[in-house]
Amino acid sequence: MYSAGITGTGHMLPEKVLTNADLERMVETSDDWIVSRTGIRERHIAAPGETTSLIAASAGRKAIEAAGLSALDLDLILCATVCPDMALPSTACFIQSHLGAKNAAAFDLVAACSGFLYALTVAQGYIATGQARHVLVIGAEELSRYVDYTDRATCVIFGDGAGAAVLSQVEEGRGILASKIQSDGDLAEYLYTPGGGTAHPTSEQTIQDRLHYIKMRGNELFKVAVRNMTESSRNVLDRLQLTVNDIDLVIPHQANQRITDAVSDRLGIPADRIYANISRIGNTSSASIPIALDECVRGGRIHRGNLLMFTSFGAGATWGSMVLRW
Ligand code: UT7
Repeated sequence: MYSAGITGTGHMLPEKVLTNADLERMVETSDDWIVSRTGIRERHIAAPGETTSLIAASAGRKAIEAAGLSALDLDLILCATVCPDMALPSTACFIQSHLGAKNAAAFDLVAACSGFLYALTVAQGYIATGQARHVLVIGAEELSRYVDYTDRATCVIFGDGAGAAVLSQVEEGRGILASKIQSDGDLAEYLYTPGGGTAHPTSEQTIQDRLHYIKMRGNELFKVAVRNMTESSRNVLDRLQLTVNDIDLVIPHQANQRITDAVSDRLGIPADRIYANISRIGNTSSASIPIALDECVRGGRIHRGNLLMFTSFGAGATWGSMVLRW
């Protein structure tokens, strides 16, 4: 079995910024409420025609360049998204075309906010077994296309963006050391978009009933998110016989600053060892960890040999954690 590690990262945020002041003009909310309940001050929103695959390809190009590769070196492109360009074909195929990655197989993976962690775990399997040498793993979302901008409980949280990482074979002892991904489909209705699939095919009625928009039971989700991110982090650390004190930097899914703080408290992570960018970016679902990772890499916060931990929770429900040596 080969070890799999991240050899290049990249991210892309659409230019347009939607501030809390903008939202105050759209729904009954306030900057105070949004900041105190979520930590979010602004988020990026894709322009018309700026599709998920376009922002994903832009993040992907930066990751490929950082890894010192060309698109033709890729054997596989994995796109984690719940905001595909189209129902058919996969967004990963559009990304492959944008990049000219002619030698890569491409497919999408749906695990909502845990999508990047899920996709990294799948990619690790391809590298470990020698089925792929270089895999481009992307988390890309345009939740602004699925959010009901009359529903103040959801529209203040989500933002658009893409993050990417190249996973390649690395020397033993480096790269992904342990990961654990989990699901509980009984919680599906805590966060879902009911319309447009086989359960409720698109019709005038589904549009009238606003079933094509995201529905969220935020308060219930909050508690499960804190519990499961904490437990799964403990689980991977225990498997490696590590404690949280051994981890140089924790990069959690940026769901809500209060979720990050609660997980930090329970695990005993010092404030300077857990990364937060939610105030500038909002909750970008599967893109949040790779965007944060790329900011840390390019910002000089991660050094060779550092131990990192990722942890996430999202719709499904899905959750997971991963420990890597950089
Ligand atoms: O990414 C992974 C999946 N997503 C998550 O993990 C999200 C998890 N959940 C959350 O982040 C939080 O639950 C929210 C930010 C969505 C909501 O915060 P909360 O503290 O759980 O608020 P709540 O839903 O309990 O609502 C409290 C009050 C309600 O008013 P009443 O019934 O007490 O009068 C809401 O109607 O806040 C009201 N409210 C708002 N007020 C102003 C809800 N949204 C807003 C808003 N502005 N945007």
